[in-house]
Amino acid sequence: MKNKTSIQGSWASRWIFILAATGSAVGLGNIWKFPYITGENGGGAFVLVYLACILMVGIPIMMAEVFIGRRARKNPINALADVAEESGSTKKWGIIGLMGMLSGVLIFSFYSVVGGWVLHYIKVMLTGEMIGVTSDAAGSAFGALLADPATLLGWHTLFSIMSIAVVAAGINKGIETATRIMMPALFVLLIILLGYAMTTGGFAQGWNFMFEFDFSKLTWNAALVALGHSFFTLSLGMGTIMAYGSYMTKDASIGKTVLAIGGLDTLVALVAGLAIFPIIFSNGMDPAAGPGLMFISLPVAFGQMAFGQLFGVLFFILIAVAAWTSAISLLEPTVAFLIERLKIKRMTAAIGLGITVWALGIACLGSFSFMSDVTFFGKNTFDFFDYITANIMLPLGGIFIALFAGWVVKDKFAQDELQLPSAVFKLWNISMKFTAPIAVAIVLYFLINPMK
Ligand code: PHE
Repeated sequence: MKNKTSIQGSWASRWIFILAATGSAVGLGNIWKFPYITGENGGGAFVLVYLACILMVGIPIMMAEVFIGRRARKNPINALADVAEESGSTKKWGIIGLMGMLSGVLIFSFYSVVGGWVLHYIKVMLTGEMIGVTSDAAGSAFGALLADPATLLGWHTLFSIMSIAVVAAGINKGIETATRIMMPALFVLLIILLGYAMTTGGFAQGWNFMFEFDFSKLTWNAALVALGHSFFTLSLGMGTIMAYGSYMTKDASIGKTVLAIGGLDTLVALVAGLAIFPIIFSNGMDPAAGPGLMFISLPVAFGQMAFGQLFGVLFFILIAVAAWTSAISLLEPTVAFLIERLKIKRMTAAIGLGITVWALGIACLGSFSFMSDVTFFGKNTFDFFDYITANIMLPLGGIFIALFAGWVVKDKFAQDELQLPSAVFKLWNISMKFTAPIAVAIVLYFLINPMK
């Protein structure tokens, strides 16, 4: 392929790519969503299926996305089309990228609302209004926030502007540097919180909840959620990693890089769960409380621990940063596409897309108040966008990317990018051709046709 670099520029080094991709992967999915869906789906067996999905489906698909992006060095739609053409197939494969962009738009619109909750909690921690709060009071405070669309709109707007501004600025050195400091800091604070969780007396219960594999609790729906979440948490199935891969330097090893990203992402999720569940159990809260889990349990924990206010502020700032670096990656593929296809300026593309996702976000934040009667298949807009993207659109995007990489792209081109030892390449190829698509297809099948 002719392009040596993308017209958007490239990452300064392999480390910057790892940093940016980890910034995309580690986000609300790890700290907010993973603990609450683990809670809703009964714990251990769910965690095991999730880990299997990451290893057997997520990591191989991430390698495919990176190599397709890096080979073509274009936005996901054009990258898929070019790589297809090079292997003698039709450029129509670009359609997968189109579906991905739609997923990105829908995910951003609820993601930004949750990002707004996090910003609100920075303020709550700063003012100290939750010091010494009981879990019931923390629960009502969260309920009151959801019922207040004006406040939510303010925070959602701020979060959207922050994200659009970074995307408009391009592959920005500022955010790269910020991520370099913030990611390790997030980890250190998670460890401190984990240390606190160990002292609460609920640690053994929390640990057992996450790691005792009781398969009788596993349902097809839980397997679907685990599979869907493995795509969501690794930012797969929608072109984000493909777009980031298109800015990657040629000399970096894709296999090792992807393992590092997947490993870090999984570690953050597991540590977040181990930090949150003991707090839940020691305060007699319900692990299946849903999306409010983190926003209720953490204020209680910080309200009780020494220097809780300080740690609370820091912690929510870091979650906000993690969410922010993910949010920008939701916009990047579409912005790159708009620039390359419509030949418009990055600023124009980012603002145009930004206004669209911001407006859709209003429907999401209204789901808890003025739009609560608007439902799709029994779910409000917020839940519906979350459900169809994570559980259906990302896995479907993933199946097609796997089938594409396994069956359409010629092995010699794939191996030219991946440079894997031949046995590992065979394994990867089997995963693309069979394991990943079949796993996704089985789970989707049983979701549509539940077993009696
Ligand atoms: N991976 C991000 C998270 O876990 C969410 C995300 C999904 C970002 C898809 C980009 C693309 O929070």
